[in-house]
Amino acid sequence: MVANSGGGLTDADGGPVRHIPVLLKEVLEALAPAPGKLILDGTFGAGGYTSAILAAGADVIALDRDPTAIAAGQAMVAAHAGHLTLIQSQFSQLADHAPQDGLDGVVLDIGVSSMQLDEAERGFSFSKNGPLDMRMSASGVSAADVVNHAKLADLIRIFVFLGEEKQAPRIAHAIEKRRAEAPFVTTRDLAGLIEVVTPRKAKDKIHPATRVFQALRIFVNDELGELAQALFAAERALKPGGRLVVVTFHSLEDRIVKKFFTDRSGRAGGSRHMPVVHERLATFDPIGKSMISAGDAEAEINPRARSAKLRAGLRTGVQAEAVDLSIFDLPNLASLGKLGG
Ligand SMILES: C[S@@+](CC[C@H](N)C(=O)[O-])C[C@H]1O[C@@H](n2cnc3c(N)ncnc32)[C@H](O)[C@@H]1O
Repeated sequence: MVANSGGGLTDADGGPVRHIPVLLKEVLEALAPAPGKLILDGTFGAGGYTSAILAAGADVIALDRDPTAIAAGQAMVAAHAGHLTLIQSQFSQLADHAPQDGLDGVVLDIGVSSMQLDEAERGFSFSKNGPLDMRMSASGVSAADVVNHAKLADLIRIFVFLGEEKQAPRIAHAIEKRRAEAPFVTTRDLAGLIEVVTPRKAKDKIHPATRVFQALRIFVNDELGELAQALFAAERALKPGGRLVVVTFHSLEDRIVKKFFTDRSGRAGGSRHMPVVHERLATFDPIGKSMISAGDAEAEINPRARSAKLRAGLRTGVQAEAVDLSIFDLPNLASLGKLGG
C-alpha cells in the first residue's frame, strides 16, 4: 500500500483502499464508549470509528456532510438497527442532533477521507484528473468558482492563510492571467499551471500544487469555521462527564483545538509575564496527555497518520459559555464576500 501524491491510498494494483481509521485505539481510550452510552461521531466517513464504538456496546449518532458517505453507510445502519442513526449534516450543527439530556461523547476526525481523495470526480486530488470541485457536501461554491472568479487579492489571502504558500502572489497572478483566456475546469489544469509557475526543486518533498489545493479545499468547505463552531456545539451538547475527542491533520486545525481546550479549561492568558486577568470556571478538564500523535508503527502502515494529532477533554458541570470565535484568532476570510466583482 502506498500514499499517492494527492494523499490518497492505493493498493498494489493501483485500486482504491478503504479508509484506515487513524489513532483508533487512542480515540477509544479517550472516548470510553460502553453499553448505555450515546456517542456522536461527527465525521462518519467510512464508519471506522462508528463501527468500533458500536462494537464497544455504545449507541451512535453519526453525521457526515458528504451524501456519498451517507449512502455507503446504509448497510451499517441496517446491520445495527436501533443503535446507529446516520444523518447528512455538517458537524457545526451537531447540537441540533443531540438529545435534551445530552451526549456521553463527541468524536471528530477532521479532514477528507481516502474515498474522497481517491474519487477523481470529487476534484480533491491534483494527482488524479477530475473537475476542480472539492465540495464535500456536493453543493455550494466549488474550487473552480473560487479560482475563476475570486479577486486577485482574495486568492492571495486564501493561499497565504489557508495554504501557508510562500509563492501565493506569483501563483495568483498567473491564475488571473490564464483565466482571462480560458477558465479553469480540471484539477490537472490548475496543477499544471502551478508546476510551470513554481517548478519543483530537487529538495522539495511535496508537489508544488499541494499548498494551493489544501487552501482551496479548506476555503471551499469552510473547514476552520466548521471546526470552531463544532467545538462550541459539543460544549453545549455534552453531559457533565461527557468526552470530546478531536483528531486533526493540519497545524491550522490543531491550533484551533488547542486554543479551545486552553480557553475552556480556564488556563487562557496566564504566563510568567502576564498573569491571568479573568479566571473562568473550566467547562473542560484535560483527559490524559494534552496531545497524542501516532507511533512509528501506525505511521508506517498508514502515511495519513503521520500528521495526526489527538486532543481530548472531559466536560465539567459548569454551564457552557457563549460562542466566542475571537479566541481562535482566525483569518477573516468571511470578508471575501461574493466571488468576483
Ligand atoms: C477523515 S474522514 C473520517 C473517517 C472516519 N473516522 C472513519 O474512521 O472512517 C472525514 C469525514 O468527515 C466528513 N466531514 C468533513 N468535514 C465535515 C463537516 N464539517 N461536517 C460533517 N462531516 C464532515 C468528510 O466528508 C469525511 O467523510
